[in-house]
Amino acid sequence: MDNLTNRIAVVTGAGDGIGRGIAIALAEAGAHIAIADIDTEAATRVATELTAAGHTASPFHVDVADPDSLTALAEEVRTSLGPASILCNNAGVMLDGPLTQVSAADWQWILDVNLHGVIKGVRAFIDQLRAAAASDGFGAQIVNTGSMAGLAPRTYLDYGIYSASKAAVVSYSENLRAELEPETIGVSVLCPSTVSTRIWEADRNRPAGLGPGRPVPRPDRVKDAIDGNAVGQLVLNGIRHNRAYIFTSDDARPRVEERHAAILADIERHETDSQ
Ligand SMILES: NC(=O)c1ccc[n+]([C@@H]2O[C@H](COP(=O)([O-])OP(=O)(O)OC[C@H]3O[C@@H](n4cnc5c(N)ncnc54)[C@H](O)[C@@H]3O)[C@@H](O)[C@H]2O)c1
Repeated sequence: MDNLTNRIAVVTGAGDGIGRGIAIALAEAGAHIAIADIDTEAATRVATELTAAGHTASPFHVDVADPDSLTALAEEVRTSLGPASILCNNAGVMLDGPLTQVSAADWQWILDVNLHGVIKGVRAFIDQLRAAAASDGFGAQIVNTGSMAGLAPRTYLDYGIYSASKAAVVSYSENLRAELEPETIGVSVLCPSTVSTRIWEADRNRPAGLGPGRPVPRPDRVKDAIDGNAVGQLVLNGIRHNRAYIFTSDDARPRVEERHAAILADIERHETDSQ
């Protein structure tokens, strides 16, 4: 997808961090952006910033954990901007804690936002993406925000609940890519390493009904990390080339190699055992 001029792009979690960076990069490439976020003030700030810079952007409220909210967003986008041809399911939250101790409410929040928010985002927008792909022959694109935590988790960090949700996003995206390829709808999974954002304060958006949240200690490595704007440029490139995976840092290779080496070692043991 080379030409993004006047395309309608929806970015969830676009009020801050990586989503804001994606929205800026797509707007600078000429797309019209739906800035969707649970934090309406943040979405409005980003839309105002983009409009002041001469781009086309509108704020929308959405809670991706609520399928009805996503359906309403899809309808509002279609009627106010037109059918979306780019969907970035980016909103996500984070939590740490030993897997044997995290509560059912913690699992519900993480899976509702990080996994079901992606699955239901696709369901809400698939008709528009199909219509856009069929109408101009340029195709459509879905970018789901996974994480390196979903491909090669740092198991020593107590991020298991987060990693499990992101591993599911990676697998979902790989399968969806194969399913939608015949319809010229590309699917990418964004696998960021550490990015300097407010993800460690994700508890600011935890629903009150799920009980008290807690911030995650901000790791030292964040101070040397890239920001959301840099990730936005990488996502734009990934959309242009319909990449299956979009990476953000050089640590992707050693982390994936280390994980695969451990898997291959046990495959070799299995092969030896079965001789
Ligand atoms: N920052 C990192 O190091 C990192 C690494 C890998 C993956 N990610 C992923 O990147 C994505 C964006 O995170 P970020 O780092 O920019 O964090 P962030 O906290 O800076 O931004 C997240 C945005 O999502 C919004 N949001 C939260 N819950 C929502 C909901 N239920 N519905 C709609 N919007 C909601 C927030 O209001 C916020 O604007 C997430 O999916 C996260 O898991 C981040």
